[in-house]
Amino acid sequence: METSSHRTDIVIFGGHGDLAFRKLMPALYNLRLAGFIDKQSRIISISRRPMNRETHIALMQSKLEEFISADIFDADFFADFSEQLEIAYIDFQDPSSYANLKIFLDMQTDRERIYYLSTASDFFGSIAQNLHTCDLITEQSRVVLEKPLGRSLDTSRKINQEVLQYFSESQIFRIDHYLGKDTVQNIMALRFSNRIFMPVWGSRDVDHIQITVAESVGVEGRAGYYDKYGAMRDMIQNHLIQLLCLVAMEPPCSLDANNVRDEKVKVLRSFRKMTPSDIEEKTVRAQYTKGFSQGEAVPGYLDSEEIKGSTTETFAAIRVDIDNWRWNGVPFYIRSGKRMREKNSEIVIHFKSVPHSIFPHEGKCLSENKLVITLQPNESINLKMMNKIPGISSDMRLQEVDLELNSHDTTKVIKHEAYERLLLDIIKNNPTLFMRLDEVEEAWKWADAIIQGWQANQSIMKTYPAGTDGPSAAVSLIAKDGRNWHEDGC
Ligand code: BG6
Repeated sequence: METSSHRTDIVIFGGHGDLAFRKLMPALYNLRLAGFIDKQSRIISISRRPMNRETHIALMQSKLEEFISADIFDADFFADFSEQLEIAYIDFQDPSSYANLKIFLDMQTDRERIYYLSTASDFFGSIAQNLHTCDLITEQSRVVLEKPLGRSLDTSRKINQEVLQYFSESQIFRIDHYLGKDTVQNIMALRFSNRIFMPVWGSRDVDHIQITVAESVGVEGRAGYYDKYGAMRDMIQNHLIQLLCLVAMEPPCSLDANNVRDEKVKVLRSFRKMTPSDIEEKTVRAQYTKGFSQGEAVPGYLDSEEIKGSTTETFAAIRVDIDNWRWNGVPFYIRSGKRMREKNSEIVIHFKSVPHSIFPHEGKCLSENKLVITLQPNESINLKMMNKIPGISSDMRLQEVDLELNSHDTTKVIKHEAYERLLLDIIKNNPTLFMRLDEVEEAWKWADAIIQGWQANQSIMKTYPAGTDGPSAAVSLIAKDGRNWHEDGC
């Protein structure tokens, strides 16, 4: 077990929000359990309604019991952990209410401070300003900004500029939890520590790349939030684009945060700009209608009273072209949606078929290798290779076999959630897995052009029944280039 000597005050704005309950508190609990958080550190939840400490601790216990697996939650350990938990009531926009937080922070002024802003990004500026006004920002402070940062390049710029008045860029951690997933980090290990992939990673050998993040859940209790963002702003502009950058970037000269981020930004700058006609041809947006999810009948997106008549997409598929030497002519097809057939996140690198087949009985697709990197539900990396079917027959027949590149027996390894790794990096002040300002802005520039194109042409919205793989237009998007989505076979 590793132990930490960092005494840190972790202040969570939105401390009683969905993300805090589901992800942040379980991650902090697990980090403390694993010895990564010092026992003297404090976790101060900011609530927007007054609550006494006892009620807060009881609430935290019930939420941790709900969101941590029963074999890990331990009531005795929680009793110990709960000594580190505090609650402060703050009205984000009222500077005088920050005195409730100051009481705690002034007790130990030499500690590192982490302000985790797990609120709507509209509040980030005023929270930063009020922390400054109340003299709560020290040199040892960091601020964590949850995605999505704004709804467009302009709003994102405004929020970043507001926060940058009070925190320097090196104190800002813009989080994208996909970068904390083990398999996502493995993309860098796979690419940059195995020479065999180096020569084939580009347009000479790769035909195209698919990135899919499909969720079987709907918008759950988050319709109010989701309807303002949709698949493009909630998933594609950040999670999928980050995955794409890791696959497409050039090797950084070191793992130093800025070297990695420099390479990602170069990819983003190479995205081909979408013209209005590209938007019609290369993008698909859709909403789910009623259907069946995991065997149960579920309503359609527009059936909810809260969002009647909404024009927000719950699914998007886009062909991305990258104009640089490595990827010229290699399309990246990316898609993400809610209420799809199953939860499945994967990156599939489709290699070109052999230049000439000497196995006349096999179809073209059998000679295409694929590298399948699965992020969810189970993490794995498989290289699909061709192999002779054992035994004798009149003709030599081939079969596709999986070369499993998983580095360990996943059943025996303790799994750490993405938020655990990222929170630990924040505590250790390591920004490599966080987004720099220019990355966020480049991603918004590209996304904005598509969103504006969609707004100008509302008729583009398609539908798909809940529990399916998305609209047929997404199949056509890739089929018109003579290709198929991975699940549809060759
Ligand atoms: C979040 C989105 O960033 O990622 C959610 O806001 C989405 O809408 C979630 O459900 C998916 O994360 P994961 O790790 O479950 O794939």
